[in-house]
Amino acid sequence: MKLTHAGISAPSAWVTRWAHLLRPGARVLDLACGSGRHAAWLAARGHTVLAVDRDADAIAGLPAGVTGRVADLEQGTWPLAGEAPFDAIVVTNYLHRPLWPHLAAALAPGGFWIHETFAVGNETVGKPSRPDFLLRPGELLEVARESGLRVVAYEDGLAEVPKTAFVQRICAVREVAAAADAPAPPRYRLDP
Ligand SMILES: C[S@@+](CC[C@H](N)C(=O)[O-])C[C@H]1O[C@@H](n2cnc3c(N)ncnc32)[C@H](O)[C@@H]1O
Repeated sequence: MKLTHAGISAPSAWVTRWAHLLRPGARVLDLACGSGRHAAWLAARGHTVLAVDRDADAIAGLPAGVTGRVADLEQGTWPLAGEAPFDAIVVTNYLHRPLWPHLAAALAPGGFWIHETFAVGNETVGKPSRPDFLLRPGELLEVARESGLRVVAYEDGLAEVPKTAFVQRICAVREVAAAADAPAPPRYRLDP
């Protein structure tokens, strides 16, 4: 896997693709951050990043400028209940379906949800292969709709980079309330 100069894996092209939508100094949550490749990349761009993982060694290794928190996202209560809403939530290569309502609630008005992880079909090419870890066709779109988010971009297919994998990817936004009878036109720049 390609490494950055700090020895951390390069950020996902999906995350970098949509990061231009974040306002300067955005408050970002990197959930199940691992080594912090996205936390580090976003912090280097001036965002305020909270990175959460259950792996204490990974959190201890986060670069300066990233706030880390050790927490198990699958046991007990939602560990970020006391946090102010986030301007963006980034999740990559991680899936725990009971978290959907918490993610939606943690997103501030105008905030972006950027999620990329493995999808059904991946069991034919490698790991993860357990259904618990694989998105069903259209699942991220359904979650966005049920959470009241507007989809900016979505992909579902076979990727070859950084490795052969079936993935789903979404970038969705919690729009600032618009008049119900006058749907707002999209305001999100597709180009950086
Ligand atoms: C495949 S790694 C992805 C890391 C990072 N998001 C990335 O794409 O580079 C999955 C991460 O989820 C974390 N994780 C798995 N189960 C977790 C849990 N119950 N609570 C918090 N973190 C968890 C692991 O420790 C690991 O760092």
